Amino acid sequence: MSNPSDQNRFVFDAEFSVDFAHRLIFTDDLLADGDSTIESLFGDSSASADSGVLAAIDSEVARLHPNLGERLTGRFSSPELPELREVTLVPGGEAAKNDPDVVEHLLSLIDTLRIDRKSTILCIGGGAVLDAVGYAAGIAHRGVRLIRVPTTVLSQLDAAVGVKNGVNKFGKKNFCGTFAVPDAVVCDESMLATLSDRDWRGGFSEAVKIACLKDESFFDGIESSAARIRDRDMDAARPVIRHCADLHLRHIAEGGDPFECREARPLDFGHWSAHRLESLTDFTVTHGEAVSIGVALDTHYSHLVGRIDRDTSIRVVRTLDALGLPTSHPALGSDALLDGLEEFREHLGGRLTITLLEGIGRGIDVHVVDRDLVAEAATTLPNLLSG
Ligand SMILES: NC(=O)c1ccc[n+]([C@@H]2O[C@H](COP(=O)([O-])OP(=O)(O)OC[C@H]3O[C@@H](n4cnc5c(N)ncnc54)[C@H](O)[C@@H]3O)[C@@H](O)[C@H]2O)c1
Ligand SMILES: [Zn+2]
Repeated sequence: MSNPSDQNRFVFDAEFSVDFAHRLIFTDDLLADGDSTIESLFGDSSASADSGVLAAIDSEVARLHPNLGERLTGRFSSPELPELREVTLVPGGEAAKNDPDVVEHLLSLIDTLRIDRKSTILCIGGGAVLDAVGYAAGIAHRGVRLIRVPTTVLSQLDAAVGVKNGVNKFGKKNFCGTFAVPDAVVCDESMLATLSDRDWRGGFSEAVKIACLKDESFFDGIESSAARIRDRDMDAARPVIRHCADLHLRHIAEGGDPFECREARPLDFGHWSAHRLESLTDFTVTHGEAVSIGVALDTHYSHLVGRIDRDTSIRVVRTLDALGLPTSHPALGSDALLDGLEEFREHLGGRLTITLLEGIGRGIDVHVVDRDLVAEAATTLPNLLSG
């Protein structure tokens, strides 16, 4: 029966879709003579002749690669390429996402340098700098063209491949951010040489994460080469970084939910506690380390709720351990950490949905989490490998 007060109501629904291309390139040394990646990125019509480039570089990357700015300037002096209007430094690490002045400064540069929507922001740095610069690029003029050059393991195999950006606010990770597909992601292997051991190892937690969710034989490969990867053997690490990035890319391009409109966010396996742990420890635990701990926790919890056997749980935790990653933390069973479940739900919206394991390579979404069992998983996790 129609409602009389609805008589003058008309609804026009029009469905539409927009095509995106997600481009991921791996190269040995982006700025080397003879590498044509830069030219290929500016050769198309999306960059007009009078558009410019703003390069934003992670301060730590600039410090450890002192001639980077000079090499960029030299490269962009070519008449084939748009004008490089400025090279600016962005504080490296989570500070980039915690300090609101970083985004303000970038926005003011975009304004004063007349960086328009057909201009390009070229961001070179770790996942945190890419997230903060990506956010500024995403909101300025409702979206300026962005090229990401990730310089950490974690950002090459995961963060830069995502179609999200974000900064932290109110003590919460990624509270502000947008979904925005970058024009290209260019992973430059030469950058990884200067990473600290801690940041080198940290990145592989995301590889274990996605292998556990999607690809058992990939997990087997990481498991068998974990010690070589930990010791920075590039021949062992390279295929893992590339395959992991490709799995993330395929998830976005072929998974059917690139902008996370559905309930589940499967790539966030282990992340509800990871994000909380990062904030609770004032970011002294890095994202990569927190993900390792979070993956270990949710794997062990998957065992305690009867979804996987104990040996499978031990295999996953042992592999993280062999990669030189932490697998537990004193804050893990605390109420403050468990409150991260509600924070995670709120960030995604709708029902609580977290991903557990039904086997290696098989993730499953669940909507009910037993806090007591999570606390038990946290308490028993430190002894899992010795017990
Ligand atoms: N947008 C996404 O989809 C997404 C996905 C996963 C993670 N993230 C975010 O990524 C961030 C973590 O990224 P990360 O692990 O790259 O850490 P990071 O960006 O904090 O970098 C770690 C440290 O390494 C330095 N660094 C960067 N490149 C270097 C190099 N080549 N040599 C030496 N030092 C270098 C940085 O300055 C920083 O001090 C977190 O904020 C996380 O939330 C985002
Ligand atoms: Zn992550």
